[in-house]
Amino acid sequence: MAVYDDARGLLAHRLHSQIALHQAYGGVVPELASRDHVARLLPLVREALAAADSTRDSIDGVAYTAGPGLIGALLVGAGFARSLALAWGIPAIGVHHLEGHLLAPLLEAHPPEFPFVALLVSGGHTQLVDVRGIGEYQILGETLDDAAGEAFDKTAKMLGLPYPGGAALAQLAEGGRPGIFDFPRPMLDRPGLDFSFSGLKTAALVALRGRELNEEVRADVARGFQEAVVDTLAEKARRALAATGRRRLVVAGGVGANRRLRERLLETARGAHAELYFPRPEFCTDNGAMIALAGCLRLKAGERGSGAVSARAHWALSEVGAPRASP
Ligand code: KG4
Ligand code: ZN
Repeated sequence: MAVYDDARGLLAHRLHSQIALHQAYGGVVPELASRDHVARLLPLVREALAAADSTRDSIDGVAYTAGPGLIGALLVGAGFARSLALAWGIPAIGVHHLEGHLLAPLLEAHPPEFPFVALLVSGGHTQLVDVRGIGEYQILGETLDDAAGEAFDKTAKMLGLPYPGGAALAQLAEGGRPGIFDFPRPMLDRPGLDFSFSGLKTAALVALRGRELNEEVRADVARGFQEAVVDTLAEKARRALAATGRRRLVVAGGVGANRRLRERLLETARGAHAELYFPRPEFCTDNGAMIALAGCLRLKAGERGSGAVSARAHWALSEVGAPRASP
């Protein structure tokens, strides 16, 4: 939940993480997620408004995530946001989750100008996007199977780390030695901007088979795995900059919080005479601030939302479209 002001920027943001709720199950349990959203939404709105020193009278619109994702959880948020907007007599703007991610660097002090190339790496998506403006998104490449975050999480699980293990795997990798495990760099041997990470996960499984999982081996595998993912992402980002001629690279989504990835992308950007932009780690992973920002930009551009409760489990980023008065 967040309060965003177009002149003053982000006034407040609050996050209630459900990680502890789902951890025992090793993944998100849809029904538990929806129920927890119901319980948390109203208290979080009150908290965020108080922290922003704002009241409902100063709010001009309500932004919410309209998709893609788990439909039950989406419906809770969409129904709540639409009702709030109706009660307050203001528009409700449905935002695409990935649009929130790729605009998140605009929350920071030195935001990128359009156009830019975005590397979107989350638990559900891995995409390279040419961003020409709000809602002007061309997918340059995407994963053919697992998302980068999903590969991190599955490999982390093999290494005995709790869900979602991406950040914990990265931490483990810090103590690992380079070059002990040399995993494949999927799809680098052929042209194009698509990704594939499921083979890498299998390679990790094969490497671990029959080995004693001591601390050293786990750290070395984590290091080798992370290097392979990061190398692949960096090389595809380099190709995307070359193909489009863009001079700005944005990295966003949960995996964008990865320190080694940022390091490698800085080198990539430097080599391409481009500038790298990324949100602070807490705005890489899912958050309300990025949705508030995207909704605010759409509201300013004239979008008013329909009266409908909009929630879509499947929604391609390329279908989003520029802001418009009525959908
Ligand atoms: O964007 P996000 O919060 O949720 C989705 O929209 O999917 O991304 C979550 C993903 C998880 O797979 C998580 O393990 C991964 O981001 N992640 C990381 C790191 N922090 C979060 N992966 C690698 N290194 C990290 N530091
Ligand atoms: Zn996300």
